[in-house]
Amino acid sequence: MNHRKNNRLSVSVVLVCVFLIGIVFYNDDVKSLTQFPLYKIQAPISISIQEFPPETCDIFDGRWVFADSTHPLYREEECEFLTDQVTCMRNGRKDSMYQNWRWQPKDCNLPKFRAKLLAEKLRNKRLMFVGDSLNRNQWESMVCLVQSVAKKPERKSLTKTGSLSIFRIEDYNATVEFYWAPFLVHSNSDDPDIHSILDRIIKPESINGHGQNWKDVDYLVFNTYIWWMNTLKIKVLRGSSSFEEGATEYDEVDRPVAYARVLKTWAEWVDKNINPNRTMVFFNSMSPLHIKSSDWNNPDGIKCAKETSPILNMTKPPNVGTDRRLFTVAVNLIQSMKIPVQFLNITTLSEYRKDAHTSIYTVRQAKLLTDEQKGNPAIYADCIHWCLPGLPDTWNEFLYTRIVSRS
Ligand SMILES: *[C@@H]1O[C@H](CO)[C@@H](O)[C@H](O)[C@H]1NC(C)=O
Ligand SMILES: *[C@@H]1O[C@H](CO)[C@@H](O)[C@H](O)[C@H]1NC(C)=O
Ligand SMILES: *[C@@H]1O[C@H](CO)[C@@H](O)[C@H](O)[C@H]1NC(C)=O
Ligand SMILES: *[C@@H]1O[C@H](CO)[C@@H](O)[C@H](O)[C@H]1NC(C)=O
Repeated sequence: MNHRKNNRLSVSVVLVCVFLIGIVFYNDDVKSLTQFPLYKIQAPISISIQEFPPETCDIFDGRWVFADSTHPLYREEECEFLTDQVTCMRNGRKDSMYQNWRWQPKDCNLPKFRAKLLAEKLRNKRLMFVGDSLNRNQWESMVCLVQSVAKKPERKSLTKTGSLSIFRIEDYNATVEFYWAPFLVHSNSDDPDIHSILDRIIKPESINGHGQNWKDVDYLVFNTYIWWMNTLKIKVLRGSSSFEEGATEYDEVDRPVAYARVLKTWAEWVDKNINPNRTMVFFNSMSPLHIKSSDWNNPDGIKCAKETSPILNMTKPPNVGTDRRLFTVAVNLIQSMKIPVQFLNITTLSEYRKDAHTSIYTVRQAKLLTDEQKGNPAIYADCIHWCLPGLPDTWNEFLYTRIVSRS
């Protein structure tokens, strides 16, 4: 207990100092504050205003800045929990600049990522990512971002049971979890290991079987996108039959229509089951693909395979084929919900990151690509998932900003 108090005290002292220095160098924004006697400035609320961007600042509107003195936030070889899918350097990637970009919001700054501060917020709590392999990508990033706070190696662990993977830090009694549900609702692709099914069928009004695993979690981060992109129409299970009964009859529904039905089911689940006094809910917008190098005017490109820098011409956002209709569905729905959901608007800023995908430095069906496969990026480059360290760390910086400043 004492130790914790001391910690908090020293953090406060440092923050007050930072704040006072801030006043000297950052005069414009705090002019009104300086008119008060100095002792009033020590109120904790002023400290957090200085450290964290105000709610009114759109942290998703900004630009990429090369910052090799601050990024990456951890090193690939330091994080034993990274899977072969994302360890691009270990898998043979030679260029590493993709790890060195930080996101600079236009009208404010992101706070420095402090693993200990986040772990304090997660003490006796659960953080869970729910969704598809892109959310798993972000979960792996989060595990690496916080794992250094464990005092000894045996004080942290990773276990997988069915659809749920749990990373635990004993010293904080905190968990960072991932739950596999690529469509959020029930589908025939819910098996966490064997789900590469061509005939994907969903059950848009059915979610409770998954949902019971999300109850009583303190921070929930949802996403669903990539599994929708295989076909223009989505197969919807007919009637009230179930996959367990072996039902396979389906209707085909336009993608945005099916997406709206699914998100409505999800929103109703959240509104009915989440206690907003306990749980913060986040929804990640779509993670974009980079499969056509003509989208960024590179005639010599092969999908994303030859890209070593972001798109830096920000005159207008690149068009890389993202289905924006689904974005609109999500934005409108979230605005209509009873429970507040924080929309993490990562789509546009990620569209600039053609350089950050795993490309040929990854696995296919759980095996590293062979040299022969690596020689054929047109077929084998993965321009969906992202290397770690890398872009998903930035997504987690947004999450960090919201979790620490709101709770
Ligand atoms: C999402 O962010 C982009 C910039 O990154 C911005 O143009 C767009 O308006 C934002 N959308 C929403 C709904 O906030
Ligand atoms: C440990 O965390 C869980 C939530 O993950 C909580 O239910 C439990 O009460 C915590 N244990 C202690 C001793 O605080
Ligand atoms: C949340 O907290 C507020 C204020 O303490 C209280 O009025 C409200 O009933 C609580 N809501 C729930 C769902 O517990
Ligand atoms: C930036 O992109 C715009 C349109 O997207 C184009 O008109 C302009 O020429 C580009 N600028 C440079 C320096 O490539």
